[in-house]
Amino acid sequence: MLFSLLIAPAAAEAALPPSNPGTPPMSDSPWSLLPAASANAEALDTLYIFFWILCGIAFVGMIGVQAYFMWKYRKPAHGHAKTSPLTHNGKLEFIWSAIPTFFFVILFAWGEIEYMKQVTPPPDALDVRVTGQKWSWTIEYPEVKGCSLTNDLYVPVGQPMRLTMTSMDVIHSFYLPAFRLKKDVVPGRYTVLWFEATKPGLYPLMCTEYCGDEHSSMVGRVHVVPQEEYGAVLAKACELKQGDTESTEDFGARVLTRGGCASCHTTDGTVKTGPSFKGLFGKTETLADGSTVTVDENYIRESILEPNAKIVSGFSPQMPSFAGRFDDKQIAALIAYIKAQK
Ligand code: CUA
Repeated sequence: MLFSLLIAPAAAEAALPPSNPGTPPMSDSPWSLLPAASANAEALDTLYIFFWILCGIAFVGMIGVQAYFMWKYRKPAHGHAKTSPLTHNGKLEFIWSAIPTFFFVILFAWGEIEYMKQVTPPPDALDVRVTGQKWSWTIEYPEVKGCSLTNDLYVPVGQPMRLTMTSMDVIHSFYLPAFRLKKDVVPGRYTVLWFEATKPGLYPLMCTEYCGDEHSSMVGRVHVVPQEEYGAVLAKACELKQGDTESTEDFGARVLTRGGCASCHTTDGTVKTGPSFKGLFGKTETLADGSTVTVDENYIRESILEPNAKIVSGFSPQMPSFAGRFDDKQIAALIAYIKAQK
């Protein structure tokens, strides 16, 4: 009963609401974990339940004995309570030390075995690179040349995946609750996570280390797809070309989503980490050194490829370069999109 509260399997099979692509499906009860969706998660949940059962038995035993003694040795209605002449009981003390020690050793050994499995990726694991930056995740797939997605991790079911992760700025923490995994993502260093997804579906991916004011927007999605569909699904997700009937502006909006630009730049005039795109084109901006620049095609292009070249006064140099990530057509579409934000 208690344990079904702690690990409720029924919740959170819900699909991603299409109106809000940024929201990953979460469990709908604050008391339940997401259903386990990786081999490692299932093993850890078993250990977790074992741990809770042990704690439950110990809690009930200790509080029960305490309550019984409080009642048994309560102040008598008349006269005085006599103090027991007992000093100690060797046999009893041995038992209450030995039994918990036995279970502590089991917990340690079990935890150690699971931990070693979790930090040792199998040799046939598929490589993916993850880069955290304020405030999005860049996910790159070495098997598809030039493929770099923002906040979307594609995974074939039943295939071990090895994530090599780093950060462009501060410490973030890559968190996959349905896989029971998280690891810090640290600038100037690589950290590694691996897992094998067991069920196709959509799972949340988050940052779980407070990294600044937009920390809570570092959410993404893990798409677990059947092995035979993986190649096609990934190729489609990676493709970023203007559609035959698509306007350049609309294509620019898709480029913007792919780059994760909206986590820092709004289109409604609100100033976040970077300037808002609303009314930006044609504006004269003052730079940190007092000089001015007119926002035209060249300035936008330079700001995408070399973001730190001309920082507008009042902003800090936090944007990563998109050189090598966006080609000329994509940049031109982005410029068209920004131009349209009047
Ligand atoms: Cu990145 Cu919190």
